[in-house]
Amino acid sequence: MDYKKYIAEKLSGLGVDTEEIEGAIAVPPDKNMGDYALPCFKFAKTMRKAPVMIANELCERFVCDDVISGVEAVNGYLNFKINREGLVKESLAKILSEGEGYGKSDVGDGKTVCIDYSSINIAKPFHIGHLSTTVIGGALYRIFKFLGYNTVGINHLGDYGTQFGKLIYAYKNWGRQKDVEEGGIKELTRLYVHYHEESEKNPAMDDEARRYFKLIEQGDEECNKLFNWFKEITLKDIDKIYRELDVTFDSYAGESFYIDKMQPVIDELNEKGLLKESDGARIVDLEDYNMPPCLILRSDGASIYATRDLAAALYRKNTYNFDKCLYVVAYQQNLHFKQIFKVLELMGKDWAKDMVHVSYGMVSLLDENGNQVAMSTRHGTVILLEDVLKKCHEKCLAVIESKNPDLEDKENIAKQVGTGAVIFAALSNSKIKDIAFSYDKILNFDGETGPYVQYTAARIKSVLRKGGQPSAYTVKDINEDEYQLISALSNFPDVVKASADKLEPFYVTRYAIEVASLFNKFYFNCKIIGEDKNTESFRLDICKATLTVISNALGLLGIKVPERM
Ligand code: ARG
Repeated sequence: MDYKKYIAEKLSGLGVDTEEIEGAIAVPPDKNMGDYALPCFKFAKTMRKAPVMIANELCERFVCDDVISGVEAVNGYLNFKINREGLVKESLAKILSEGEGYGKSDVGDGKTVCIDYSSINIAKPFHIGHLSTTVIGGALYRIFKFLGYNTVGINHLGDYGTQFGKLIYAYKNWGRQKDVEEGGIKELTRLYVHYHEESEKNPAMDDEARRYFKLIEQGDEECNKLFNWFKEITLKDIDKIYRELDVTFDSYAGESFYIDKMQPVIDELNEKGLLKESDGARIVDLEDYNMPPCLILRSDGASIYATRDLAAALYRKNTYNFDKCLYVVAYQQNLHFKQIFKVLELMGKDWAKDMVHVSYGMVSLLDENGNQVAMSTRHGTVILLEDVLKKCHEKCLAVIESKNPDLEDKENIAKQVGTGAVIFAALSNSKIKDIAFSYDKILNFDGETGPYVQYTAARIKSVLRKGGQPSAYTVKDINEDEYQLISALSNFPDVVKASADKLEPFYVTRYAIEVASLFNKFYFNCKIIGEDKNTESFRLDICKATLTVISNALGLLGIKVPERM
């Protein structure tokens, strides 16, 4: 039952647009106020009346029925109470029959969303700074898919620049195939660092490196073979982490993919009179928009990051004809994306309005004493994501060893929980906030954490194993704990939609915590197994429905539900 729609339809013909009413109806934070509320100040203008009067009038004319059992006008709000038995029966039936599909929708049918996320740099370590883009992007990808959108996950690889000339130089002089194959990114980084040590003594090396880079651009066979191999090695290394975080991509078209697609953009900018000369460089002047100029070509004629992003945007529009194109990139690049979107707009691309920079804050790690662990690529103190995940796995395994040493399949469960904790922590706050996490905090089984939600799911699984199949029951005398839980479960589809609208996977994490705590409250207050048969069966169904919702929510975040914990 879509209560919002139902209420809106019942109010139709009262002088306000039904769809507008439906959009305005909300779930009040305080359940004592009712199950749904309609703020009437939104209609004051069109109805030319004070909100209090509108609410009073609507209230008088609203006729309650089997679905809506009560209505009240309070301070310009219209509060509705719904028939709890009706809601409980309907919600349980819907959740249990839809199962894995509960929360899905077809709002996105026929629409395409491109999501540029993770977008790693070739031959560079995958560190904790890459966590957010990877898991926020991964969650948005699954959420949009769940809502019926055609989703295109793009890993816009950082695979262009003189550093690849340097890497070729380093490999040719000091590298060995076997070492690179075995050492992966670590060995590539070592070669790169070694290059810098040597080139300080011998600056002429840089000319050689530039020559190699030019050769890549010109399509030289040997250089491209090496370059593609470096890419392969990097992606192979990182694929282990992608698998663990359950993220996938439909395209790995990175910066070098646009080498031959930049000239048409430059030509178009020129034709439209947007390209200006400035100290030998080519720029698009954005002074009228209070931004520094967008650099397109350096004075030596080389393209830059922005040039490739413009080419990429045009390519994506042409190839995927997206309705939305998202860029999940840290806030340090706010200006870059503002400039790119503005330049597209100035080029007359009306779809520039469909481009969104999904900006997010910094992630840092705290040590045992609560101090930030320093990270600096230059000083070689990167915190590798791989190491963070490994440490979480070890810590989870230690907890299991001490609390439940006979647990079957414990290594695997420790992995699921450790990884779940990291993903959940990265998605625990509004994405723009900076996150500082400590292992103890994110692994706390009693905190607002992934392990807490996973533990709740495992607890439900255990109840269901003991309880067996519920028999037929009638729904009556619903208590507050049961009602609050089921009512929360019935909100899941709305939560998923809202998280897509606001581009906030955090709505789903927050919701998962809410459901888990409502379940635990229900679990402590209400006996399940051993109650009279009718109650037992009803409560087992509540357990099943809760497990379905938690599994679906965690699934959208890329988190596994362990069998036991
Ligand atoms: N590789 C870039 C970086 O590490 C991020 C790329 C984001 N995507 C884009 N289309 N610019 O900063």
